[in-house]
Amino acid sequence: MPETADILRLGVNIDHVATVRNARGSAYPDPVRAALMAEEAGADGITAHLREDRRHIKDDDISGLMDALSIPLNFEMAATDEMQAIALKHQPHAVCLVPEKREELTTEGGLEVAAQDDRLGEYIAPLRDAGCRVSLFIGADEAQIRAAARIGAPVVELHTGAYCDYHSEGRFEARDAELARLREGAKLAQSLGLEVHMGHGLTYETVAPIAAMSEVKELNIGHFLIGEAIFRGLPEAMAEMRRLMDEARG
Ligand code: PXP
Repeated sequence: MPETADILRLGVNIDHVATVRNARGSAYPDPVRAALMAEEAGADGITAHLREDRRHIKDDDISGLMDALSIPLNFEMAATDEMQAIALKHQPHAVCLVPEKREELTTEGGLEVAAQDDRLGEYIAPLRDAGCRVSLFIGADEAQIRAAARIGAPVVELHTGAYCDYHSEGRFEARDAELARLREGAKLAQSLGLEVHMGHGLTYETVAPIAAMSEVKELNIGHFLIGEAIFRGLPEAMAEMRRLMDEARG
């Protein structure tokens, strides 16, 4: 998504529209239609994760999104040869590298960058050459943030999943400690010249302290928004998230 002043961008992740579609093996609901609705409702970008097992988004969805969208596509993927070839074919605005395990329900942890910085540095080079803005989805961990800067990734997305889990479990001390780690991580990343994004598990209840961090330029939110859309429709669900983000930003 284009860099602009101090605006906090909202990227809407439409993976779980595809989850519902795939539950019946039907053609609907169509994630591309949801993405266009999100665009119409003011999303700054669309995020879609093509998992290796294609459990939600499928290859044709990526083609459909590339053809249909006027706003940027943030293509989430594992750092594999197969995914690199797909990204190079489509050349989306952004490529976000995430760790992937088949048995996990969702992306559980951040990418291990520090221990494979040579490999990842080589891996992202052609993506960067193709004009994709490469983002690494990592924990708010000093070694990972420094490694991301070292290999020349322009963007890091810090994983907010643990912060959100602690909140929903009522473990508020742990939640606040995690929030402090995210704050420190965002500051460090920005000081190293990285653009900071955050995402995973965010809801109306958890978004404000994250949105309030001036270092954060983009939030990527999916599961909660798509769930909320069942009750109030996607534009209204997004509008409330946008309102909370703007209010927190002051
Ligand atoms: N950012 C990244 C890198 C993710 O992997 C995901 C989940 O696919 C999200 C953001 C969105 O998380 P959620 O669906 O929990 O809002």
